[in-house]
Amino acid sequence: MIRGFHWTDISDACAIEAHAFPDDTWSAESFWGELARTIVGGRYFAADDEAGTLLGYAGVAFTGDDAHLQTLAVAEQARGKGVGAQLLGAVLAEAADRNADRCLLEVRADNTAALHLYTGAGFERLGTRPGYYVGGGEALVLEKVLSGKDVQEGH
Ligand SMILES: CC(C)(COP(=O)(O)OP(=O)(O)OC[C@H]1O[C@@H](n2cnc3c(N)ncnc32)[C@H](O)[C@@H]1OP(=O)(O)O)[C@@H](O)C(=O)NCCC(=O)NCCS
Repeated sequence: MIRGFHWTDISDACAIEAHAFPDDTWSAESFWGELARTIVGGRYFAADDEAGTLLGYAGVAFTGDDAHLQTLAVAEQARGKGVGAQLLGAVLAEAADRNADRCLLEVRADNTAALHLYTGAGFERLGTRPGYYVGGGEALVLEKVLSGKDVQEGH
């Protein structure tokens, strides 16, 4: 189930985070900061199972007409079952609801799983950011143009 991310999810999210991003792990304070920023327009989503176990999370921020994916992670034992695609779908639906022109994100150039997820959802390469990650890894900047706004404004 996809639902809003609450402060009570932070502890479980930190455990997923540590495994998902071992080189640049967000702390509990980072998640608190992200949730605080949702007051000015961003949104965080959580995925959980029937028992209420947190399976993953994703966040989106808005700048001007752009939506920007802040993070997306799925617990290792829950991967490959469509959870990441559901979370990304929630982010894109939120971006469309807010009438964003496009959704942007950065992803490690060697992150095969994430690249499959994003390209499968219609993201295309916009550019690169050399040295973007801790340790110097290159980021690909991906963009998905959101057609909803064109349709709404075209008539
Ligand atoms: C990237 C990540 C979120 C994907 O989550 P997931 O729940 O496993 O993804 P899904 O099951 O929804 O799969 C989505 C698509 O990606 C593909 N995919 C997922 N893992 C893959 C892998 N290891 N190799 C190749 N393709 C993969 C799936 O086959 C699916 O494609 P399809 O619809 O054509 O079948 C997850 O691997 C993760 O948390 N990784 C660590 C954190 C991370 O890298 N986040 C992204 C930061 S930009």
